[in-house]
Amino acid sequence: MTKVIGIDTGGTLTKIAYFDEQATLHYVSFPSNDLAAVKEWLKAHPGLEDIGVTGGRTEQLREELRDEKAIHYIVEFEATLKGVRYLLKKEGHCINESIITNIGTGTSVHYMSGNSDIRVGGTGIGGGTLIGLSALTTGVTEFEDIRKMAQLGKREQIDLLVKDIYRGMDTPIDGNLTASNFGKVGITEDPKHPPADILATVQGLVGEVITTMSIQYAEAHQAEHIVYIGSTLSDNQHLQQVIGNYTRTKKRTPIFVGDHGFAGAVGALLNIMEHEKTSSQ
Ligand SMILES: Nc1ncnc2c1ncn2[C@@H]1O[C@H](COP(=O)(O)OP(=O)(O)OP(=O)(O)O)[C@@H](O)[C@H]1O
Ligand SMILES: [Mg+2]
Repeated sequence: MTKVIGIDTGGTLTKIAYFDEQATLHYVSFPSNDLAAVKEWLKAHPGLEDIGVTGGRTEQLREELRDEKAIHYIVEFEATLKGVRYLLKKEGHCINESIITNIGTGTSVHYMSGNSDIRVGGTGIGGGTLIGLSALTTGVTEFEDIRKMAQLGKREQIDLLVKDIYRGMDTPIDGNLTASNFGKVGITEDPKHPPADILATVQGLVGEVITTMSIQYAEAHQAEHIVYIGSTLSDNQHLQQVIGNYTRTKKRTPIFVGDHGFAGAVGALLNIMEHEKTSSQ
């Protein structure tokens, strides 16, 4: 076990990253509303000397740990970008310039160019929205269930496509694009839809809003690539398809890094490792 770890305490999930002796990265995650479990995990790893921390709920984690450990804080956006650069390189992507879209509880968008980066914007539509709207519309509350059911659902009875409006006519834009998310419900007879279809449509809405925004920033910054990260993408093939297809339709290249949710934790880990190196020199 390692002596240093990185922790990203986000709005929904707390992620931990560390290297083993063979320099392989390992990940663990906990719900952020159960920080006592994080404390237990740390207790079960007594050899730990330093902890790099980041994320919006860092102060709550600090309170939970109550000065038991040496903690080094790095701001969330800096940690995320540091982690993304590392993960891109690890997976063999050679990208100098890109939009980075982090789909966490909410969504944050960044522009990365070489060693510099800026936060360019964001939206409240994110993984929290996916869970919240899914729970309210279908009663399904667990992320695992939502992503599995969404994969099986169909959107065509609920979403209104451009070709549904321009019936029998040439469409001014791609007829298969969504004209109105959920737009068919209000103008058709039968309002009853299977939960899987509703969940697929909720996920479509979340994915398309985020992609639309990311594409606009990519155009503004003339970036060809959009790197999508955040735990909302975890094992979530359907959301990746929605985002990937729409990004490609808009002539940009989507990239999904394998360790979607852990960029912040990896950044916090690398930060503390750099800190240790410089302080021992
Ligand atoms: N085990 C899980 N439990 C709950 N949500 C999950 C789980 N796995 C994935 N998710 C999804 O991931 C989202 C959280 O993503 P992520 O961990 O990147 O955000 P966060 O860091 O907690 O939030 P933020 O960065 O906005 O503060 C949830 O809203 C949910 O949609
Ligand atoms: Mg986060």
